[in-house]
Amino acid sequence: MMTAMMKPLSRVLWLGCVLVFCFQVLVPCGLPGACGLDNGLAMTPTMGWLHWERFMCNVNCQEEPDSCISEKLFLQIAEIMASDGWKDVGYEYICIDDCWMAPERDSKGRLQADPKRFPGGIRRLANYVHSKGLKLGIYADVGNKTCAGFPGSFGYYDIDAQTFADWGVDLLKFDGCYCDSIQHLAEGYKQMSLALNRTGRSIVYSCEWPLYMWPIFKPNYTEIREYCNHWRNFADIYDSWQSIRNTLDWTSSNQKIIVPVAGPGGWNDPDMLVIGNFGLSRDQQITQMALWAIMAAPLLMSNDLRHISPEAKALLQDKDVIAINQDRLGRQGYRLRKGEGICLPSIHASSNQHMIPLLVP
Ligand code: GLA
Repeated sequence: MMTAMMKPLSRVLWLGCVLVFCFQVLVPCGLPGACGLDNGLAMTPTMGWLHWERFMCNVNCQEEPDSCISEKLFLQIAEIMASDGWKDVGYEYICIDDCWMAPERDSKGRLQADPKRFPGGIRRLANYVHSKGLKLGIYADVGNKTCAGFPGSFGYYDIDAQTFADWGVDLLKFDGCYCDSIQHLAEGYKQMSLALNRTGRSIVYSCEWPLYMWPIFKPNYTEIREYCNHWRNFADIYDSWQSIRNTLDWTSSNQKIIVPVAGPGGWNDPDMLVIGNFGLSRDQQITQMALWAIMAAPLLMSNDLRHISPEAKALLQDKDVIAINQDRLGRQGYRLRKGEGICLPSIHASSNQHMIPLLVP
């Protein structure tokens, strides 16, 4: 572990300010009321791929057949995840984000995939993904519409949970747009969690509940952890260093609230890894990988695995860094100190605490 971290760290040493993180012991369910969602899933942070940051809501398959949201994209990414070493190092979930749906539900009130872009339907896609030894994630929204304006699940939680289970879906990202009250938001997130559970299928439940609560009042993380396997706290990530910094600033400013609640079964989600895209320098990509590992964050890449540099691939597949993220104790690191200047790249380890100086330009 030490050697793995030293290499990237020494590269960013001279770049500027210092962030110091240290691991904190968190025993799952060791704190009163800190028990996680009892579905036995996400005992280590979820690893996989999610289309949103890189492909967004591109539905123009006529002009951009290779980068629109269609079954072709997911079939190709699944093939590569299985054959190019991604699955071997732990990337398991291939996740569809917004914009997969047809604009209307079917005659029985069920969500349906856009028939032109997903002619085989989600069940067939799930079968293919499973045949590759991978798992399939899908996206829906607690309110009346998804953020991009497709049908929302409000009033349909049981039907939608059952539909996803029938299709063989393994993860649900549940967004929080177009919810008309904070009560509906909280109730909706809980009801969907219970509805997923009632299907009897193992479905990882990825929430954005706290993100939508923060503008109104401080979320109850103990409660959120009881219903969700991971939860977004902060704004969407973009392919830029400023966006990564904003996420890190928010995370460290709120670490007293969010760090103690993380642990096996329930994780803070600082959003996707954008490594392998266009906006980050090499050092910035290394820094995102190191910090997401230390933060015990879900490692959901959003990039184009069909066209990725060998350097980005090696970084994302670095087994030693992944081992830190996937540590079974599930401790989330936090910032110990922030300052200007240079910090020696030393690592101090004792039986239960590691201090790792991390440098951010
Ligand atoms: C919200 C979420 C994003 C993405 C989009 C899709 O902004 O936070 O992660 O799912 O919706 O519309």
